Amino acid sequence: MAKAGKKTVFFCKECGYESAKWLGQCPGCKAWDSFVEEKVTSNKNLKVNPLPLGVVDNKPIKLSEVNIDNHKRTLTNIEEFDRVLGGGIVTGSMVLVGGDPGIGKSTLLLQMCRNLCIDKRSVLYVSGEESAKQIKMRADRLPAFNNEMLVYSETDLERVVERITDIKPDVVVIDSIQTMLSTELGQAPGSVSQIREATGVFMRLAKTLPVTIFIVGHVTKEGVVAGPRVLEHMVDTVLYFESERGASYRFLRAVKNRFGSTNEIGVFEMQGDGLHEVKNPSEYMLNGRPENASGSVVSCAIEGTRPILIEVQALVCHTSFNLPRRTSTGIDFNRINLLLAVIEKRIGLHMSEYDAYINVAGGLRINEPAMDVAIIAAIISSCKDSNVNEKTICFGEVGLAGEVRAVNNAEQRVLEAARLGFETCILPAVNMASLNIKKAELGNLELVGISNIKELYKLI
Ligand code: TYD
Ligand code: MG
Repeated sequence: MAKAGKKTVFFCKECGYESAKWLGQCPGCKAWDSFVEEKVTSNKNLKVNPLPLGVVDNKPIKLSEVNIDNHKRTLTNIEEFDRVLGGGIVTGSMVLVGGDPGIGKSTLLLQMCRNLCIDKRSVLYVSGEESAKQIKMRADRLPAFNNEMLVYSETDLERVVERITDIKPDVVVIDSIQTMLSTELGQAPGSVSQIREATGVFMRLAKTLPVTIFIVGHVTKEGVVAGPRVLEHMVDTVLYFESERGASYRFLRAVKNRFGSTNEIGVFEMQGDGLHEVKNPSEYMLNGRPENASGSVVSCAIEGTRPILIEVQALVCHTSFNLPRRTSTGIDFNRINLLLAVIEKRIGLHMSEYDAYINVAGGLRINEPAMDVAIIAAIISSCKDSNVNEKTICFGEVGLAGEVRAVNNAEQRVLEAARLGFETCILPAVNMASLNIKKAELGNLELVGISNIKELYKLI
């Protein structure tokens, strides 16, 4: 029962929607059963500190008078990381690094801190999860740590803010936001109001000091702590660190970036001495590809500005059920169903008699219609049990009439295939007609343009 003076409010732990009563479905993000109850003490007693120390009064100014000198970028010297950030760290920005526990967020940020220290920047690593000793032990696993980094093991928000304002480091890492606790709020750590309060305080600090702040946020499914999605709209940049279960590859993805593109991904591999950059993801993704196996087709996806070759696998076999089984990993399930229907109707293969399992090898998730041709080729190949030449690559979007449509960045895809020594490239005829590539650049790569999937069927 809510007592006088203490109000309870319900928050959606997915998006932070606030409601006076419990709701089954969140009106904000439509998530089910996501509301948690939290007490809110009246905010009157809170020391709100909108302008941290040393900041003069703010007033509206002309755009032309805005000084963008302090938006200089600092390189972390982790190339993959810099690219995802949009070309390095922007001074005074706030970056949220989200991801499942154990994925390597702390390791990545420690490696960043190490590089920044080597470049003579001052760095403060605030950990609410580990003691200074533990951080030291972890840092010792990483090569070339020069131990200049300041570590601070603390969970009290007010004290952390005080230290940051005192020290004024160039970069601060908060590991993790869920452990930061404002004693004035009087709530459990990890609750929606605590996370929002802490993020708000750090955001103001970042903008006014200015200092760059990286905050770590754990994503928990159906967990007790609120997901970082609550804070996505508050920060400048949101990066997610993810991987398929068990894979050693890690993909760093920008889902929001006020200072760069959001399509970039960085690829890392976790090894005994920290994260290693994977600068040639195509070669890695194609590692261990089965030779002369049916149902395996290589395609080229564009992730941000970078082409990445991937292997699409299909396993198609007669079904023993009334309703065929279909699963997909790494590709949109509905897209698979749609393509199976297109194959059935336009080529005449009776896909309804087959189970189909589709997979993108290597743990990458691809959401690009340009993969359609490769998926269809893999399905046909598995269905006919005839393998597609392993030196063949294909890409293109497929429409409902079975037509093969043009895709963007065709040149880049073709060149990546040529670079990795492929011999045949099946691509949309429309793209082929307008391709602007010199013969020398193609090397041994032969281009085959197709305009519908019947032609593809004949090629396999
Ligand atoms: P960590 O950075 O602690 O993950 P997060 O902060 O996202 O929870 O990484 C944890 C995992 O990484 C842990 O299981 C151990 C492993 N690891 C290595 O394999 N090599 C290393 O050099 C380090 C530091 C960690
Ligand atoms: Mg950690």
